[in-house]
Amino acid sequence: MRAAAEAFVRCAAESIRVSARFAVALSGGSTPAGLYALLATGAYARRVDWLRVHVFWGDERCVPPNDPASNYRLARESLLDHVPVPAANLHRIRGEDDPAAAAAEYEWELRQAFATPDGPPGSAPGSRFDLVLLGLGDNGHTASLFPGMAAVHERGRWVVAQQVAAVPKWRVTLTPVVINAAGEVVFLVSGREKAATLGRVLDGPYQPDSLPAQVVAPRNGRVRWLVDAAAAADLRRRWV
Ligand code: 6PG
Repeated sequence: MRAAAEAFVRCAAESIRVSARFAVALSGGSTPAGLYALLATGAYARRVDWLRVHVFWGDERCVPPNDPASNYRLARESLLDHVPVPAANLHRIRGEDDPAAAAAEYEWELRQAFATPDGPPGSAPGSRFDLVLLGLGDNGHTASLFPGMAAVHERGRWVVAQQVAAVPKWRVTLTPVVINAAGEVVFLVSGREKAATLGRVLDGPYQPDSLPAQVVAPRNGRVRWLVDAAAAADLRRRWV
């Protein structure tokens, strides 16, 4: 997790230097909890100008913000309650609302933040995410882009709501339109149970309908995979 914390701190410093703001989309699930807790410690927290950080989410479960399944709650309890991000800079997805309304409201908020009332995100710093943190599900999903979902191929909307049979809940998620405009995407993958899927995603044929994580390919940015040894066990090619 230290590599992920260093990447966060570095990206924040560079974004704030260039555009006086750091726009980051946090990942959900359980893996990033360790990263968030580390960022909340003095060793890292004092290296981030939190007043200039704008926090978004890559996806959200359609539950209230204090629900144990809420991605917002995970980040709030492990990080945001411990660092001075201004309340106005927290842009959560309103999981308690009607999913379609929450998706529309979140897209509007994103478009406001990136000064892009219509069309795709820009490629300049300040008009896109500086950093998007993502996880990898053992079925190849990322954010809430699940196998077979039309959102994997979305070309217009930045945010969609879809009922996901695999979970089974309504989810609100960023689409590849806005993820692939990011300056940097960092995947955090941990655990032996992810190894087979990670091997297929990184070493196998391109099949995003089965492995939605493969659709992540920033046009003017980079992707980094921060993977522990257990999750890397099935990788054929050496990735550095
Ligand atoms: C979510 C996440 C999801 C997550 C993966 C991995 O809302 O669940 O956005 O994409 O990153 O499912 O989850 P774990 O880190 O819990 O394995």
